[in-house]
Amino acid sequence: MSADIEENVLELQGVVMTFGGLMVLNNLNFKVRRGTIKAIIGPNGAGKTTLFNVITGSFSPTEGTVMFKGRPIQDLKAHKIAYQGISRTFQTVELFGNMTVLENVMLGCHTRVRTSFMASGLVLPQSRRKEKRIRESALKILKFIGLADKFKDSADSLPLGEQKLLEIGRALASEPELICLDEPAAGLNETETHLASSLIKAINAKGTTVLLVEHDMKVVMNISDEILVLNYGQKIAEGPPEDVRNNPGVIDAYLGGVA
Ligand SMILES: Nc1ncnc2c1ncn2[C@@H]1O[C@H](COP(=O)(O)OP(=O)(O)O)[C@@H](O)[C@H]1O
Ligand SMILES: [Mg+2]
Repeated sequence: MSADIEENVLELQGVVMTFGGLMVLNNLNFKVRRGTIKAIIGPNGAGKTTLFNVITGSFSPTEGTVMFKGRPIQDLKAHKIAYQGISRTFQTVELFGNMTVLENVMLGCHTRVRTSFMASGLVLPQSRRKEKRIRESALKILKFIGLADKFKDSADSLPLGEQKLLEIGRALASEPELICLDEPAAGLNETETHLASSLIKAINAKGTTVLLVEHDMKVVMNISDEILVLNYGQKIAEGPPEDVRNNPGVIDAYLGGVA
């Protein structure tokens, strides 16, 4: 394996995404170094969520390549990409509201542990053992995200802050190497934001690479190693937080309004 692949877990080359005539991602090139937190910021409509949709396989890009661990993934289906080690959360919470907190995390584990349909249908001892293992690792995740005592509650009974943490928990359940978080602090109060921010740092400290879309500049500036700024689907700046913060083009396009 070359040093570059070792160092960069994700690399986009010339990625273009168009919907009808609208170019939403315009010739994007960037790398994400293994073990870092990289933030993607930019105004609403800049293409941030679309970028996540392309990386995680909801859409194949119109042009360009997405390399994960040195291999092209841009034409793979979402479940294959998840199986290779990329998981995500959604800008609008997408939990199974009437299922329990524990079950929601257990569903995330199923990306990793394959139980054949037959085996689970017949409840063979082997699949019961697997179910037990899944349950145990889901409980461990709940402890890690601070929701262990709520494992039996239904997901929709949680306040938004905890639902956002639970989404992150579900994304962790597949043991991803890269986790893509789409606005994890949106709608949260200061205490909840602080919790989410600490959790993201803890995830990263365990070795998981983080790609973060977030509008809360305090969160972004505090936890990111690198920031990429998108405007109309184009990269207008990229670098460490202190450089991006002082970049006049970025202040004009975005930070002037939020920072
Ligand atoms: N599936 C789609 N079909 C058509 N247009 C889309 C689709 N997804 C996103 N867009 C458009 O792409 C642009 C960028 O949207 P989005 O990626 O959600 O931006 P952001 O997350 O930065 O706010 C918007 O103009 C949006 O309307
Ligand atoms: Mg978005």
